[in-house]
Amino acid sequence: MRFLITAGPTREPIDPVRYISNRSSGKMGYAIAEAALEAGHDVTLISGPVFIETPHNAKLISVSTSDEMFEAVHRHADKSEICVLCAAVADYKPVDVSSTKIKKRGAKFSLELVLTRDILGSLGQRQDREFVLVGFAAETDNLEENAANKLRAKNCDIIVANDVSSTDSGMECDVNEVTILSRDGEKKKIYRAPKKIIARELVKIFSNFATKMFDKKNVTIN
Ligand code: C5P
Repeated sequence: MRFLITAGPTREPIDPVRYISNRSSGKMGYAIAEAALEAGHDVTLISGPVFIETPHNAKLISVSTSDEMFEAVHRHADKSEICVLCAAVADYKPVDVSSTKIKKRGAKFSLELVLTRDILGSLGQRQDREFVLVGFAAETDNLEENAANKLRAKNCDIIVANDVSSTDSGMECDVNEVTILSRDGEKKKIYRAPKKIIARELVKIFSNFATKMFDKKNVTIN
């Protein structure tokens, strides 16, 4: 099967030397890419700026801003059977980007921000989509409830929820613990394990879901 995977953070420029971003390391997305390749799938990896080696045989598309990621995902989604949107896209970006370095001024400084486009939500809204859509939810509280709401709101097939409230799993770490909710009401928890191990399980779950979905639609995939 062909996987499209987004990973890492995005950077939303403020001026030529500053940006808004977040603490995503990209490790989970890259581990999923690696696991999918290991299982014999094709992988297009659309990645924000990270410090990880590209998995051998992945087709890497490097992006920086949420808008670049949006365009790249929409260009490639229909060529994929499974889209896994694991990137930690910045929620907001500056309304204006200064073309010159902003000078230090008074004691206070405000920046006007606007919502970025929701890449996962925009794919979910598409009535004609034929790929399995997987989203991630990083939550600090009410994990399952928030994840179930996200599954519905973004109209995806599977949501992988991880608890980012502790500092020893989730963001920037090598280990994670996730709960997987799917559209058909199934729920599975993978207890604390290295991201590489979790990634292998996730790839199996995603491809089984895709096989079931395509069987129902009578579509043959290679
Ligand atoms: O709404 P929230 O950011 O919590 O949702 C997380 C999920 O949505 C992740 O799968 C993330 O990759 C995706 N997302 C996106 N575009 C955005 C924000 C989040 O694709 N602008």
